[in-house]
Amino acid sequence: MQAVPIGIVTVSDRASSGDYVDRGGPAVTRWLEAALSSSWSACTRVVPDEIPAIRRAIEELCDSESCALVITTGGTGPAPRDVTPEATEAACSRMLPGFGELMRAVSLKSVPTAILSRQTAGVRGRSLVMNLPGNPSAIADCLAAVFAAVPYAIELIGGPRLETNPTVVQAFRPPHAR
Ligand code: MTE
Repeated sequence: MQAVPIGIVTVSDRASSGDYVDRGGPAVTRWLEAALSSSWSACTRVVPDEIPAIRRAIEELCDSESCALVITTGGTGPAPRDVTPEATEAACSRMLPGFGELMRAVSLKSVPTAILSRQTAGVRGRSLVMNLPGNPSAIADCLAAVFAAVPYAIELIGGPRLETNPTVVQAFRPPHAR
């Protein structure tokens, strides 16, 4: 079976200028390597905290690289340079607010500042786009919270079938879609 491309976008001024080693993107890759049992390939980007750069990366990954899923990390907070949710909304035709709601609710059990993340998710064509906070420790918490719904969400928007490793995450599909 052909490898399904998945986009991983690190949004950080410091990582994109080389001042800082990107830890978020590799943490997303590692989590997906453990969670997915079907073939996939990572398309990675590191961009500054600027709406046009983030939007362009999301759009290219969806439209040119045919990524079934695009995950961003960073830039979801309340600081003036945090603009990832705005860029995500600009790139998506429809929003799926449940992803951000659930990630915040689960994260609040470990950090009170989870309330500060404006992370969201949306659909561009046949691609699902979702935001994660930049803290590498947030990545596993947030992906573990929502990933059971991700394979079916991708199928509903016309994307390919992803299989998960049930010891990490059990994908949920309604009986007619199994
Ligand atoms: N969620 C989890 N699970 N763990 C965290 O450490 N950090 C919070 C929040 N969500 C955090 C979290 C903090 S301190 C901020 S400011 C926001 O995510 C936004 O982070 P970002 O701007 O790096 O995206």
